[in-house]
Order: sequence, then structure tokens, then C-alpha cells
Amino acid sequence: MATGRARVAASILDADLGNLAHAVTRAERARADRIHLDVMDGHFVPNLSFGARTIRALRRRTRLPFDAHLMIEEPGRYVDEFLDAGCDSITFHVEIDEAIAPTLERIRAAGRMAGLAVRPKTALSALDPYRALLDIVLVMTVEPGFGGQAFMRDVAADKLQAARAYVSHRLHGGEVHVDGGVNRESAEFVGSQGADVLVVGSALWVPRHDMGREVRLVRALADEGFQYGLNDGRPPTPRDAMVTFANLPRSLAAPLADEMDAAGIPVLLLRGDGPGDDGDAPYVVLIPATAEDAARERFGDPVMDAEATRAGAPRGGRRRDDR
Ligand code: DX5
Ligand code: ZN
Repeated sequence: MATGRARVAASILDADLGNLAHAVTRAERARADRIHLDVMDGHFVPNLSFGARTIRALRRRTRLPFDAHLMIEEPGRYVDEFLDAGCDSITFHVEIDEAIAPTLERIRAAGRMAGLAVRPKTALSALDPYRALLDIVLVMTVEPGFGGQAFMRDVAADKLQAARAYVSHRLHGGEVHVDGGVNRESAEFVGSQGADVLVVGSALWVPRHDMGREVRLVRALADEGFQYGLNDGRPPTPRDAMVTFANLPRSLAAPLADEMDAAGIPVLLLRGDGPGDDGDAPYVVLIPATAEDAARERFGDPVMDAEATRAGAPRGGRRRDDR
């Protein structure tokens, strides 16, 4: 698992299409974080690539998560096939001519992440009606259809930071993806604009090139961009880091964990040390470090709260019912 903040999704569009199984295992060995799958129908974009059956066949070849990017006119017609194929997230374009909300809802009901993508010329405001249904916003920094095109810096500057607002309804885990022309030249800039997931295509499939080094370089440059561009010079909080949110007896820890889970914060509940004969053994509530501020804001300080309750005083700090 990578430390740091930025994540690299390897697009296999420019890999050797005669050996995609090899391509995904190569990307995994190069420590890419995910596989980005570009599906094209020859209508929405002037190109054809591959479909759900190919994705299903690749699913067994790697443990990396699959992000599908559907550049097709009728995602509603095919979405179940992509869900069945094992995609972890499905993103399609807001510029299509069919109803969008039902497809987003289907993806989320299947427990996957749902996203909308915007072409370079499409304003983010096109996403306004779907805000509450979005887990991912994918900002295209080339015209969709082909790998290997030049990065559109103005589009990135215009949209990447603004895209955050469309996923901020999620207390944790909403993602801004940037797709098109991302490589060692543009990585630092997109990091400085807060992109979470960098889709990298042609830069990875250069013959006799060390793909692992490219992945590390792009990720490190994006994190550096974030550190100096958005984070006052402080290194980003690694996405994999967990922190202890509270130590509580089980009777308090379990309902708190449920409540946090429901609010979108993934919680790990671990048995702590100490006596447990009364059935109320101590438990440790662990959450991702990147969710800590949002969690404190929303759930107060449960340790203080528990102590205050025990002392018979009213619960201090920000309380859950203050929301
Ligand atoms: C383009 C695709 C991209 C493409 C990126 O329509 O959506 O994912 O593979 O390739 P590069 O990184 O070469 O721009
Ligand atoms: Zn793509």
C-alpha cells in the first residue's frame, strides 16, 4: 500500500491490447493503486475500446480496484454488466442524452462508487442536479477518446479545486479524479489543485521504461504539489494512516461506530486491553487520519463525553445532538 495522499490509476488504453492480462499485472507490480478502464462506444467518442466482458476477464488477474470510465451514450443500458464485471467504481459522462440520476443510484445501491465525468468544455455546474449522488467527479483535461494528448492546464486550474464541492457531502472518501495528459510534467500541478486520483495512461506504457519509477514519481510530485500548494508546506496526511478516535467501553463504542459508519466514515473497532468480565470491556475506535477533523466536528470528543457522563455532569464539548 502506498503512503502519501495522491493515488495513481493506471489507464490500460495505451497498453498492449493483445495482452491486457499482462498489462494489469505489470501495473500491479509497478505499485499503481488502481486500474482505470476506458470504455468507448464509437458514438460518444470517435473511438472503440473494450467492454464489460473484457473487464470481467481482467478482474481475476489482479487484486487492484477497478475504476470504469464509460465514454458511451447509454450507460443506463449497460451499467448492470459493468457492475457484474466487478467494477469498484463506475464513472460516466454528464453530457449524455439519457436520465443520469437512476444510473448513479443503481451504482450506489450495488455498493460501488458512482461518478460523473466532464469534458473540457463542460462547466462543472452541469453536475449541480446530481451533487447528492456523487462519490467521484472526474475532470477531463483532454478531449475524451484517445490517450497521449497534451494536458490542458487551464481546465485543471479552473475545475479541480472547484470539483471538491461536489463530493464534500461525503464526510470521508469523496474523490476528484483528473484524466488526460497526466505525467511527470503535470503531476505537481494537479496535486497543487487537490486531485485525489491521477489517471495516467500513455506515460506508463513507454517501451523499455521503468513503470514503477514513473508511478512513484507521479505520486510523489502530486503530494509535493499538494503540500506547497494547498497545505501550508505541511506534508499531506497519508490516506492509509489510522488514528485512535476514542477508547470506550463496548456499550458506548459499538453505537458510536455504527453512527460514524452511517455518516460515511469507515471505522475499525478493536478489543483493547483490560478486564472484560462485566461484558463492558474497553474498545478502541480507529478511523482514517484523514477523517479525523470531520469526525471531531460531527461527533465531539467521546472520551470527554464519557467521563463527563460518568461524573454525573452534563456532556461537554460539541455534542452529537448539536448538529
Ligand atoms: C482518454 C481516456 C484517458 C486516457 C489517458 O479519453 O479517458 O483515460 O487513457 O491517457 P493519457 O494519460 O495518455 O492522456
Ligand atoms: Zn479515462
